[in-house]
Amino acid sequence: MGIHRLGIVMYGVTGRMGLNQHLVRSIVAIREQGGVRLPGGDRVMPDPILVGRNAERVAALAREHGIERFTTDLEAALKNPGDEVFFDAATTQMRADLLTRAIEAGKHVYCEKPVADQLDKAIAVAKLAKAKKVKNGVVQDKLFLPGLRKIKMLRDSGFFGRMFAVRGEFGYWVFEGDWGQPAQRPSWNYRKADGGGIILDMLCHWRYVLDNLFGKVRAVSCLGATHIPKRVDENGKLYDADADDAAYATFQLEGGVIAHINSSWDVRVRRDDLVTFQVDGTHGSAVAGLSKCWTQHRVNTPRPVWNPDIPQTMNFFSQWEEVPDNIVYENGFKIQWEDFIRHVVADTPWHHEIIEGVKGVQLAELGLQSWAERRWLDVPEITI
Ligand SMILES: NC(=O)c1ccc[n+]([C@@H]2O[C@H](COP(=O)([O-])OP(=O)(O)OC[C@H]3O[C@@H](n4cnc5c(N)ncnc54)[C@H](O)[C@@H]3O)[C@@H](O)[C@H]2O)c1
Repeated sequence: MGIHRLGIVMYGVTGRMGLNQHLVRSIVAIREQGGVRLPGGDRVMPDPILVGRNAERVAALAREHGIERFTTDLEAALKNPGDEVFFDAATTQMRADLLTRAIEAGKHVYCEKPVADQLDKAIAVAKLAKAKKVKNGVVQDKLFLPGLRKIKMLRDSGFFGRMFAVRGEFGYWVFEGDWGQPAQRPSWNYRKADGGGIILDMLCHWRYVLDNLFGKVRAVSCLGATHIPKRVDENGKLYDADADDAAYATFQLEGGVIAHINSSWDVRVRRDDLVTFQVDGTHGSAVAGLSKCWTQHRVNTPRPVWNPDIPQTMNFFSQWEEVPDNIVYENGFKIQWEDFIRHVVADTPWHHEIIEGVKGVQLAELGLQSWAERRWLDVPEITI
């Protein structure tokens, strides 16, 4: 069995996502396991070149992770025909330009979400990728969360009967940075001018989660908010946090399901996980966190009695049964990288093309518009 080399230009790997999820948990892990197995039994070994602005930082990263190649010269890296794939996990605002340059240079492209900070730019990138016939993809990591994979299994098994409602709670407290607790997310997320805002960040995710698991999103009503208007950045400097840091959004889905998802960086957690989805159907309900999932079937549904005069006697959390981990759930970013690599090298099926990410940007823009105009908006089909 042969081993094929696949050269990958990796951009933005000094960032939070680029480093942790894409370099360490995906590409380095794939190299350590001996590459990606192709359908015929051959293997593909990713050979990354790390690209960054700071030569010392990328050199140190490369050394630390046993990677031979690194550079500060993106132009030269894109010119090298030996590197067929370009990957970007740098800031959202630069993404469309970077992808455009890479596609123009003939590279297959894979990137973090959102695929652009504006819908027209996102559509232009998808069109260019189609015209240049390059393989292309966008990260849709939430689909690979064990909790949501269990929800999909429940759906496919018919557990829910007719699904009619989904309620999602996403968020946790992001420290303001001004009273002894440093903020735990990069400050650009809280500045409009830098591509920040939770609506752009999270509605991209909710689009593919809803489309794939519960029904295509047909309409949106979204109320955003900036609950914390001042924050302190990485350098200890007070700044105006003018981007939305919470979003309360309702979605109508094809097939009649109503979904409501709260997304917030200003919420203290009292629930099973940092994101939870409750799905209600005629025959059963389920609640999924990042990895666990609990079910309650119609025949196991208790009959609570509303009586404000006595303290609650039921422990509602104990009335649900956990879905067992019958299979091993690998890191979702890594699974998606392996799928993309197989798609590039062996043309295997792939369901996460950039057009899917374009739909995410579309929903985010409609969410922002719905908030600005205080009204429901339909979600039109996009064709490229
Ligand atoms: N899939 C997910 O769940 C998920 C989660 C968080 C972030 N993201 C996405 O990942 C991307 C990066 O987010 P992050 O949280 O890792 O941010 P980050 O600030 O930690 O990283 C940003 C990266 O971009 C680089 N960069 C910044 N400005 C640059 C410039 N002017 N020129 C060249 N490089 C520059 C930085 O050096 C760093 O490598 C964003 O698009 C974000 O939407 C996705």
